[in-house]
Amino acid sequence: MNTTTRYSAGQRRLHWLVFVLVAAAYVTMEFRGEFERGTLARTLMVQSHFWLGLTVLALLLPRLWLRIKRGAPPITPLLPAWQAFVSKLMHWLLYAFLLVQPVLGLMTTWTDGKRVMIPFLDLALPVLMAPNKELAHTLEDLHKTIGSAFYWVIGFHILAGLYHHFVRKDDTLRRMG
Ligand code: HEM
Ligand code: HEM
Repeated sequence: MNTTTRYSAGQRRLHWLVFVLVAAAYVTMEFRGEFERGTLARTLMVQSHFWLGLTVLALLLPRLWLRIKRGAPPITPLLPAWQAFVSKLMHWLLYAFLLVQPVLGLMTTWTDGKRVMIPFLDLALPVLMAPNKELAHTLEDLHKTIGSAFYWVIGFHILAGLYHHFVRKDDTLRRMG
């Protein structure tokens, strides 16, 4: 049972850092079209996307570990059972996204023959799957569909946070602030 009134400092930092990284991963992909294929700027956008996403993936492990170790502080006043249930469901969905989306992206690069370059070195990350254009298309479609769907899920999550703060006037948002 967690008796503190806020998430731990590590949990709060990780939550907001991952938010910035995910937002930047979206921005790099949505705006890659501003630059011609084959230009340095385009390559930088796409490679940044890969590394932002991989950082999100790497941070998931310490995040889940802290979540298990520290738990979540209770919300005051307590939520009705149905709201507590929906929020739990949404949080698991968000965690699943932070795992599945980068993994799908990585598998897309592998099967599509794209390389994730290590910055400042003439080296790429190892490729662990054989090239397979058909599979690459399926994985990329899934990655794009999930990417679009989660605009809604993340949007709902943000609105829920604002609802708690400004309408229900409880401490949900302050616990993460
Ligand atoms: C939080 C993590 C990530 C998010 C939110 C995300 C989101 C997206 C979005 C929104 C698109 C564009 C979809 C479209 O054009 O309709 C995309 C494309 C793509 N992503 Fe990700 N992605 C993530 C992680 C990754 C990772 C880790 C990799 C690879 C290491 C990756 C590889 C790709 C590739 C190869 C494409 C297609 C690129 C192209 O068409 O030029 N993604 N991603
Ligand atoms: C990429 C965007 C985001 C992702 C992936 C994300 C993910 C998550 C996850 C997984 C949790 C559950 C924490 C737990 O295990 O207890 C959480 C909690 C929370 N998030 Fe986000 N978040 C994002 C953006 C935001 C934004 C922009 C806000 C601002 C309104 C926000 C406000 C909160 C609050 C207030 C909580 C605590 C909820 C509670 O304990 O009931 N999040 N977030």
